[in-house]
Amino acid sequence: MSPALKIFLLIGDPVEQTVSPAMHNAAFEKLGLNCVYAAVNVPPRFLADTIAGVRAMRISGLNVTIPHKIAVADLLDELDESASLAGAVNTIKNQRGKLIGFNTDGDGALQALEDKIGSVKGKEVVLLGAGGAARAIAFSLAKAGARLTISNRTVPRAKALALMIEQKLGMHARPISLNRDQLKKALKNADVLINATSVGMHPAVNQTLVTSDMMHRGLVVNDIVYKPIETRLLREARRAGAKTVNGLGMLVHQGALAFEIWTGKRAPIKVMEAAARKELRRKSR
Ligand code: ATR
Repeated sequence: MSPALKIFLLIGDPVEQTVSPAMHNAAFEKLGLNCVYAAVNVPPRFLADTIAGVRAMRISGLNVTIPHKIAVADLLDELDESASLAGAVNTIKNQRGKLIGFNTDGDGALQALEDKIGSVKGKEVVLLGAGGAARAIAFSLAKAGARLTISNRTVPRAKALALMIEQKLGMHARPISLNRDQLKKALKNADVLINATSVGMHPAVNQTLVTSDMMHRGLVVNDIVYKPIETRLLREARRAGAKTVNGLGMLVHQGALAFEIWTGKRAPIKVMEAAARKELRRKSR
C-alpha cells in the first residue's frame, strides 16, 4: 500500500506571485514522495480559523508569508529557536497534531551566502534593513560569527535589532543610519554587503540604496530581492568589480530547509533551484 497523501500549504496574502509550489512539488516528485504543495490566499481575519483547519485536516506542514509571519506564532504549540529568535515563523511542521514553528529565512540566507564565499566567521558584514527578513538574517549571521553593522532608514529599528542581538546572543552589532557618508565609511572596511530591504524589487527596479562609488573590488554584494534576479544593486556591484550573490539562493535554501524539516530527507537543491528559476521566468512574462 502506498503511503497516504501528505498536504503542504503556503498561506499568505497575496500569494499569486509565489514560486514555492513549483519548487516543492518538483522536489517531492524527484524523491518520489506522495506529497503535494499548494498556495492559498488567507486574509488576516481568517488566520486563526485556517490554523484550526490545519489541525482538523491534519495538514502536514505549512509555509507562512506576508502578512502572517509574526501573528501565526501565537497560534502554534511550540517555537523552535530559529523562530523565537527571529520573532517570526515561515515554516510549520505538524508533528502528530502538535504544530511547531520554525524560521528558515535566516539560515537559508546564510547558506546561500556561504555557498558562494565560504564561512562568514570573522567577516565584516553591513546589513541593510531591520524588518522581518533582516532580523532573521541578522541572528543567523551573528550566530555564525559575522561582525555586523546594521543600517536602516528608521534608525531606532536598527538600534532595537542590535540590542536584541546583544541581549539574546551576547554579541555586539553596530547600528548606523542609512546616511550615504556613514554607509560609505562602513563599506570601506566591509567584506560583505547584504540588502535585506525591499528596495529594488519589481516594479521599482531602478532603486538602490548603495551605488558603485561606495563599493570596493573585494566586497561581496548579496541582494535578497530575487525579482528581478539581477537588481540595480547587483549591477552597481558588477560595475565596481565586486562579487555578487543574487536572491535566488536564499529563496531556494529557505525552501530546502523547510523541505528537510517536513520530510527528514535531504532536499534536492539543484532540482528546486531549476524549478524556481523556471517559474520566476514564467511569471515575469
Ligand atoms: P520584510 O518582512 O520583508 O523585511 P518589513 O518588516 O516591512 O518587511 O521591512 C522592510 C525593510 O525595508 C525595513 O528595514 C524598511 O526600512 P524602515 O524600517 O525604515 O521602514 C526597509 N525599506 C523599505 N522601503 C525602503 C526605502 N524606500 N528606503 C529605505 N529602506 C526601506
